[in-house]
Amino acid sequence: MKGTKRWRALRTEPRFAIDEIGFVPTMGALHDGHLSLLERARRENDLVVASVFVNPAQFNDPQDLRRYPRPVAEDVRKLEAAGADYLLLPSAEDIYPDGYRYRVTETADSAGLCGAFRPGHFDGVLTVVLKLLNLVRPARAYFGEKDYQQYRLIKGMAEAFFLDTEMIPCPTLREPDGLAMSSRNLLLEPEHRELAPELYRALRSKNSPAEIKRRLAALGFKPDYVEERWGRRFAAARLGKVRLIDNVKA
Ligand code: PAF
Repeated sequence: MKGTKRWRALRTEPRFAIDEIGFVPTMGALHDGHLSLLERARRENDLVVASVFVNPAQFNDPQDLRRYPRPVAEDVRKLEAAGADYLLLPSAEDIYPDGYRYRVTETADSAGLCGAFRPGHFDGVLTVVLKLLNLVRPARAYFGEKDYQQYRLIKGMAEAFFLDTEMIPCPTLREPDGLAMSSRNLLLEPEHRELAPELYRALRSKNSPAEIKRRLAALGFKPDYVEERWGRRFAAARLGKVRLIDNVKA
């Protein structure tokens, strides 16, 4: 469904008053990781709503926003096959009638890890998620653990703003070679795609974060960080123009 007006009218209909909605927000270019969130939402709710919105506010790099894959027709087909009942497909004007004058900022946990390398990124994420949650008003929303810092910040926002939605973290899905599934994997050059699973391998090794960072650099990655927090080990590193992130339990 394009725009938000029709959806907001529909959302007030009686059937939505009794049914529990499971919500899967995405930026599209859907892979099996997204589909696993949809399957879980399907199992745990009466209705499943997905959104596909490449949120400009969370891109600190305009090139990254331009390059981000947008296979919309394919996404619609995948969502139908996965049993989504409704798809929100808003434009930037639909989501930001305020021109992004109003935004949500978290001032502690968003400063480290990806926040340290992507200024404004988490403001953009939290703001769009709050807007989408207000539109959909779901009982549960589903997030992949690959973006664990994002999940934590969203859960914290829900608590801080007394939102009724339960935030559900879902395990990272991986390719057979261990690479965490991500829409950005589509953008990897073939030689970088071959190298990419080394990120996961390095994270799972017994080496210290500093050693892992050195190892990744020696392999040809440009690591932003390798760090332990919240009982997990996190890494972000670039291969060519693509920035990969991953995390494992420490
Ligand atoms: O994880 C994502 O795909 C995005 O950050 C999200 C949560 C859909 C917000 O744009």
